[in-house]
Amino acid sequence: MKRLTILSALAALFIVAAGLPAGAGPGLVNSSHDLRTLQNLGQTNNQVCIYCHTPHRAADQNLIWNHSLGSGNYSFGATGPFGSPGRATTAAGTTLPASTTAFGSGPTKMCMSCHDGSVALGALNNIGDGTPGIIPTTPATLSGETHQIASASGGMGGNHPVAIPYPDRAGAVYNGITTGVTSGFGGAAGSGGWADVTSAQSAGVKLHGGSAAGTFGMECTSCHEPHNDGVATTEGEAGKYFLRVSGDNSALCLACHRK
Ligand code: HEC
Ligand code: HEC
Ligand code: HEC
Ligand code: HEC
Repeated sequence: MKRLTILSALAALFIVAAGLPAGAGPGLVNSSHDLRTLQNLGQTNNQVCIYCHTPHRAADQNLIWNHSLGSGNYSFGATGPFGSPGRATTAAGTTLPASTTAFGSGPTKMCMSCHDGSVALGALNNIGDGTPGIIPTTPATLSGETHQIASASGGMGGNHPVAIPYPDRAGAVYNGITTGVTSGFGGAAGSGGWADVTSAQSAGVKLHGGSAAGTFGMECTSCHEPHNDGVATTEGEAGKYFLRVSGDNSALCLACHRK
């Protein structure tokens, strides 16, 4: 009888474990992206997703995006709040985005809709009942906060490159940029080159774009998973930064860079 109980307890555990997707983390609720915690007193809204997505009346069909987009002229060539001077290319010669439409249709501009500090955190196309408006928060914007990573006019200087191709033997094209790195792949750690697309992906980073060789790209979401604070539950500062791969021993960086 006792044995049966233990067996069924084990079976139940197995079922629960099998039901969890690989790499499941603590999720969005109560994370830094649960913006209910920043709402000013008196607000009655109790939705979590609404600050970014809405089922109807979205500002942009891409990701049914509910948050007002910034209008900055996003450019790595322009000085950011923490990086100057800006640059037009990476050290390897890849062209960095530099125009009003610099981020193409990837999710990076969605991140910047709050992280450039130019738009109110609660500025939404649909605050509920299909009406546009602002849910007041403190702070009102990320302007001047540590989490503001571009200037309000779009200066991206000082940030790891995004909205560019991920290096590929085939010659990568992403977001209209064709000047990506084309050599130095698949070596062991310390060889100095790049992880192949498949091994970078199996290490846990997300490469955006198509499924064919040479069409993959870097976005903010290559390193971050905005719904899951501490996906990498073993990262040094547990529960921070929404990282896809642990920051311990710089495992995140080594997922792509063979240093
Ligand atoms: C702080 C902004 C933010 C909040 C809040 C947010 N999301 Fe997202 N969501 C994003 C971004 C940015 C992407 C694009 C991610 C990517 O491309 O990796 C995304 C992508 C998605 C996707 C499509 C891709 C995927 O990862 O499956 C779904 C579905 C989704 N979100 C559902 C939700 C739901 C449900 C909630 C509320 C429980 C929510 N999101 C809250 C920003 C947010
Ligand atoms: C709707 C506004 C909004 C959007 C969109 C948004 N963020 Fe945030 N994010 C915030 C706020 C507000 C904070 C800081 C919350 C606080 O101060 O506690 C934050 C914090 C963070 C942090 C720090 C987390 C920590 O634990 O310290 C990271 C990393 C981050 N965001 C990345 C992203 C990325 C990447 C995207 C796009 C995929 C994104 N955010 C989109 C509002 C947003
Ligand atoms: C190459 C990986 C990588 C990419 C790409 C990346 N981040 Fe990060 N990000 C990190 C790491 C690692 C940390 C934690 C260490 C730190 O605080 O700098 C971090 C921290 C942050 C923080 C909180 C600390 C701070 O410095 O404000 C924010 C906000 C953030 N990222 C937003 C973004 C946004 C928005 C993008 C896209 C423009 C982005 N990140 C692209 C790796 C990345
Ligand atoms: C998802 C893959 C990926 C991850 C993870 C990643 N990088 Fe990168 N990194 C890239 C790509 C792609 C480039 C640009 C390559 C090029 O020049 O075409 C790059 C460029 C760089 C550069 C050169 C910048 C320049 O403008 O010349 C440095 C330095 C760097 N990364 C450091 C880091 C560090 C440190 C981390 C960890 C915090 C990290 N990377 C994580 C993909 C990644």
